[in-house]
Amino acid sequence: MSKTIIISNRLPLQISLENDDLKVSPSVGGLATGLKSFHRDGDSIWIGWTGLTEEEIPEHLKEDVKEKAKEEACISVNLNQEELDGFYYGFSNRTIWPLFHYFMEFTEADKEHWETYKRVNQKYADIILEHYEDGDHIWVHDYQLLLVPNMIREQQPDAIIGFFNHIPFPSYEVFRTLPWREEVLKGMLGADLIGFHTYDYERHFLSSVSRILRHQVDFNEVALPDRIVKVDSFPMGIDYNKFESAALNHFENTAEEQSELQRRLDHHLEATPDAKLILSIDRLDYTKGIANRLRAFEYFLDNSPRYIEKIRLVMLAVPSRSNVPQYQRLKREIDELVGRINGKFSTVSWTPIWYFYRSMPFENLIDLYTSCDIALLTPIRDGMNLVAKEYVATRTNHTGVLILSEMAGAAQEMNEALIINPNNFDQIAGAIEQAINMPEEEQMQRMKMLQKRLKRYSVEKWAQDFMKTLRNTKANRDSFKSI
Ligand code: ADP
Ligand code: G6P
Repeated sequence: MSKTIIISNRLPLQISLENDDLKVSPSVGGLATGLKSFHRDGDSIWIGWTGLTEEEIPEHLKEDVKEKAKEEACISVNLNQEELDGFYYGFSNRTIWPLFHYFMEFTEADKEHWETYKRVNQKYADIILEHYEDGDHIWVHDYQLLLVPNMIREQQPDAIIGFFNHIPFPSYEVFRTLPWREEVLKGMLGADLIGFHTYDYERHFLSSVSRILRHQVDFNEVALPDRIVKVDSFPMGIDYNKFESAALNHFENTAEEQSELQRRLDHHLEATPDAKLILSIDRLDYTKGIANRLRAFEYFLDNSPRYIEKIRLVMLAVPSRSNVPQYQRLKREIDELVGRINGKFSTVSWTPIWYFYRSMPFENLIDLYTSCDIALLTPIRDGMNLVAKEYVATRTNHTGVLILSEMAGAAQEMNEALIINPNNFDQIAGAIEQAINMPEEEQMQRMKMLQKRLKRYSVEKWAQDFMKTLRNTKANRDSFKSI
């Protein structure tokens, strides 16, 4: 029986060490949280990294790490510190990530990082090939593994390979600045089907392929000498039922079953029944526009002091990639901004920002989603932004307002949100005011439309669509060969 082999840098489970014991927790990030339900429900194995380096795992726990991964149909890839530095912190997160998000000033072009990136991509490809059997579908994910599709193709010319890019693909003018642009495109074109979240990313990719590699592009197909590669957009959805039912269960919790966080949130609501809670949740990443958001919130309070003691920003930032200098600087900047804004506006009974810098269990995310009247998500660039979709799915009474940056892929499917330009503070302040005062009837109208669409195009549907297109692409390839 054929299976699907999923490959991503990070596995959906994160293993850490606690008192010489292994602790398993879910990974944070759209790729892992989104794809997890496809993996859970299907016949697939998932190859990726557990979050621990080879050096960090004590000898006597090495087998246990493999076992923990195996329990969830995962195969762990061992990365040592040197590989992690060059491949993950280096080329993936200091070159591709900033470049593809249009942060050119942060983009490094380090030859050693590139060499390690190639080596580690080959390591992933080799592990895939060890597990590959004829008829399997191989589904490679994201910017850390751009070279893997062609590395597999070289060894298994007939393999069925899909690639999905979870981050934006930049315009040709930006992409062309990459010293290794040809190799990257050739790596991706090893796939039969290449998927992006939006039509714009797809278009940018095709434009780079035709201008850099000079391949013929017909509509959304790239003609290679021996085969056709199809390129398409598949906006990733969420596990809608999971979020909806978690929210419904949440409302049935007895007082004893409530989390400490929920008690604090309820206390806030009881003490200030007219006050509104504004939520933001992101990995702490410069692409997410967290500093801008804080400045826009300060601008709003400066200009609309009547809302002092009437609103609160609940901001959850998850530690991410903390070895990369830009992330360390951003952390300091956010700490300072939160301190300054709280210092400036706090009263004896109120602080404008509750700031959490940590990962939280799923139950607490649901506490936040269900308790906050407004979600304020202001990325400068974001491939998709699943948090926006999760917020909507948990609003089971249909109230709540989503304020969303037009720079998030999700904005293209979420017209009923208040769409803002994250660099325009007047617009953000205006949207906050509009959201605070939006009549319940309008909130419900907008929310219901959003929910209907998200429910229909869930992550299961997304994965099915991708896989179906992949199978068809393969069938077309076979008929192309026989002509
Ligand atoms: P990205 O993939 O860039 O991190 P997304 O918004 O697409 O951004 O996905 C983030 C995912 O991580 C969401 O599924 C969200 O539920 C999850 N997440 C975000 N913050 C936390 C947190 N503090 N604890 C646990 N999961 C989180
Ligand atoms: C985004 C990327 C994923 C990545 C996730 C978390 O969602 O598209 O590939 O896994 O962020 O980042 P991390 O560097 O912790 O894996």
